[in-house]
Parts: sequence; C-alpha cells; structure tokens
Amino acid sequence: MACAPDLGPSCPPALGASVHEDGAMHQASRHRYPYVLIKAIGDGGYADVFRARHRTDGGPEVAFKRAKPFEDATRRMAREIGVLREIDHPNVMPLIDSSPDSDWFAMPLADGNLYDLWRAGVLGRDGESVATKVVLNVSKGLQAAHDLGHVHRDISPTNILRLSDAIGTRWVVSDWGLVRRPAGQTTSRLTARAKVWEHEASRLQRRGPTPIEPTSAQTSTASGASWPGS
Ligand SMILES: Nc1ncnc2c1ncn2[C@@H]1O[C@H](COP(=O)(O)OP(=O)(O)O)[C@@H](O)[C@H]1O
Ligand SMILES: [Mg+2]
Repeated sequence: MACAPDLGPSCPPALGASVHEDGAMHQASRHRYPYVLIKAIGDGGYADVFRARHRTDGGPEVAFKRAKPFEDATRRMAREIGVLREIDHPNVMPLIDSSPDSDWFAMPLADGNLYDLWRAGVLGRDGESVATKVVLNVSKGLQAAHDLGHVHRDISPTNILRLSDAIGTRWVVSDWGLVRRPAGQTTSRLTARAKVWEHEASRLQRRGPTPIEPTSAQTSTASGASWPGS
C-alpha cells in the first residue's frame, strides 16, 4: 500500500524526520512532519508541493514543499532554502519554516502559478496589463537576487506565482532549486544586467504590448494547452 502524504502508521520514518523548533518531541515521534499535508498541489522534478497546516500554531494554510527521496533533491532543496532565507523582497517567495535536514520547507500559499492561472482565465481580460505587471514584478525579484549574486536559472511561467497577502497581490519568483552564483561573476555586473531588464519592462509599460511566449521548457502537467494569444 502506498504511503499517504502525511504520516500514516504504515509509512516508514521520513528522510531525516524532523523535530520542530517548538520542541514537540512527542509529536515528532508520532508524526513525520510538524505540518498536516492536506492536498497535493504541485509535482515537479525534485519535489512535491502540498497545501498544509501546522499541527499546533493555528496559523493559516501554507504550501509545504517536500524533496523527493534522492540525494540531489535534498541538495537542491538546501540551496533553495538558503536563498529564500537570504533574500527578503516582496517579489521573491518568502520562507516560513524549514527542516534542519533540508528535506522540506514551508512557504505562504500562493493563488497559483502564472501558467495555470492564465489558462484558467482568471487573470481578467487585459492580458497586456497582467503581462506588464508580471515582467516588472519578476525583474524586481530577480534583481534582488542578483544584488546578492544569485542567478535563478529556471524562470518559467510555472515558477512565477501570484501571492495575495497583507502586502497586496503581486507576482513572486519561486522554485530556486537551480540557483547558482556564477564563478568570477561580480554582484555589480549581475545587478547591471537585471537593471537593463527592468528598464525594458518599464519601456513596455509606457510604449505598449509585447506578447508573452511560453518557454520550450514548460513543465506544466497539462498537455496540449496553448499559451493565451499564441
Ligand atoms: N507557495 C506555493 N503556493 C501554491 N502553489 C505552489 C507553491 N509553490 C509551488 N506551488 C505549485 O507547485 C508547482 C511546483 O512547485 P515548484 O516549487 O516549482 O517545484 P519543482 O521544483 O518541483 O518544479 C508550482 O508550479 C506551483 O503550481
Ligand atoms: Mg518548478
């Protein structure tokens, strides 16, 4: 029988089962994670994502990202956790909580990714203004990363999420598992490059529309879907 996403009695201990900082040792012995996993919402190459709720803190639902059970997945997740911890910017996915073993982390629950939301037709009829906001938001998030010397290397519509919270509704750059600090690349050069992109986005806002094209590396599980306007 397959293990349920949450710990079931028949499931083996997780990769590096974790004790949460709240010191709930008794919980750690009974539960694989300090979160109850409610529903699978994403399945990527190196991780699964679930809607989840903390077992004890009474807070809102979060997104819980769990590394798949192979070594490279945990390495990628460690990298992602490190970057999320370092960057504090409204257009970069925030980190809420993470495993000391880097096999899971929790982040705010987003409305969805750009690809799925657009396909579902919930972004409104003015595609140009949506596209402009996406480009501006993403370029600002990437610039914040570049300021710290990080290059995302995996930008795609499924890694751009819409987040609605007290700050407002905006697009955030997510999925930092492939991030790199390029050898010999100085932070100022990266920042200069990101500024060029942001300048182009502002120009687009002033001068008119440019269609967004899907990337060839589109990873959505939906098949046969066409990008709006294509
Ligand atoms: N914070 C989140 N809130 C809501 N959905 C999310 C969140 N993080 C990821 N997802 C969903 O899960 C998908 C896969 O997550 P992602 O971080 O891109 O993992 P992978 O590295 O496996 O591609 C995303 O495209 C998105 O649809
Ligand atoms: Mg992804």
